[in-house]
Amino acid sequence: MPSLANFIHTQFILNIPRPSASFSSKMVVITGANGGLGKETAKHVIRLGASKVVLACRSLARGNQAKLEVEYASKCGPGVIEVWELDLESPSSIRSFVDKANALPRLDVLINNAGIMETEFKVVYDTERTLAVNDIGTFLLAFQLVPKMRETGRKSGVTPHMTFVGSALYDVAKYPEKYDDDLFAWFKDQRHVNLGNQYNLSKLLQLYGAIKLSSIVDSSIVINSMDPCFCKTHLAEKLGGVKKVLIKLFEVVAARTAEEGSRLVVQAASAGSETHGLYMRAGAVQKYAPIALNEGNSSHVWEMLCTRLEKLQPGVLENLG
Ligand SMILES: NC(=O)c1ccc[n+]([C@@H]2O[C@H](COP(=O)([O-])OP(=O)(O)OC[C@H]3O[C@@H](n4cnc5c(N)ncnc54)[C@H](OP(=O)(O)O)[C@@H]3O)[C@@H](O)[C@H]2O)c1
Repeated sequence: MPSLANFIHTQFILNIPRPSASFSSKMVVITGANGGLGKETAKHVIRLGASKVVLACRSLARGNQAKLEVEYASKCGPGVIEVWELDLESPSSIRSFVDKANALPRLDVLINNAGIMETEFKVVYDTERTLAVNDIGTFLLAFQLVPKMRETGRKSGVTPHMTFVGSALYDVAKYPEKYDDDLFAWFKDQRHVNLGNQYNLSKLLQLYGAIKLSSIVDSSIVINSMDPCFCKTHLAEKLGGVKKVLIKLFEVVAARTAEEGSRLVVQAASAGSETHGLYMRAGAVQKYAPIALNEGNSSHVWEMLCTRLEKLQPGVLENLG
């Protein structure tokens, strides 16, 4: 977690410039784009010239509402924005989404933005739901879009980008000291779950996955992760009671707008190949905290992740070959 001084700098002092990198002719997929950071990211990439922006949303109604707003704000032509259904908790929804994406003429940018901060214990994909959405569903989609992105890079000569919207909270995650053979299976037992830790842990596991993925995919796709700083969005909406009151107060005092946070997302999604495999915060590459570089834990997570993804979608690992 950033030091207090770093937090104050990022939230109150840092000037976050409006992104200016060209997205001209690019086709962009943004997951969780019906609100918060995703919707604001869509506005920027359209302003910067993207030829197609797919708002990947689990509710078409909410997605279409966002499309109207983004179209109005961007004054873009018809056909630039499309809303496609994507539920990261459903392998068949992810598969249908991938089939549609494969039919696009190109796919230059994938922004893995969708994420949750769960407040109730639920089991999805045979693990706790936060890990299911932020890690398993996220990588099930990402793996399957690698071939299309590689093909785009080959044909266009421009390196595609895959950005994971992470969180600086990854380094306060408590990685369990002992578990049985499979970390994900460990968390399907409610007794092992501390919901106050699950979000942070999911962002740590996401970093492990992004680092490993970047080493396999090499730099044919720039794969990076980033922290959008603390922004006012719907992320903590499900919190209840005192926690909700506290977070709302904290938002009033310290949060950036989603638009400001989205500038950082766009910076990462257009950053140079020197960011490949790395993590950005406040618009610059940041050293990983030691917990992100724990080779034993990250190898275990990668192995378990790959095993699960292969079970959910047989053959999915061939996408990385
Ligand atoms: N806000 C912050 O301060 C902050 C800080 C660090 C990192 N982040 C990260 O930023 C990303 C965006 O979050 P946000 O702050 O913009 O929150 P948000 O407004 O709650 O947006 C999250 C998006 O993810 C979607 N989503 C949730 N579950 C999904 C699923 N199963 N399948 C597909 N989409 C799903 C949501 O759709 P619905 O509307 O249908 O629920 C929503 O569009 C997240 O990864 C979050 O962890 C945020």
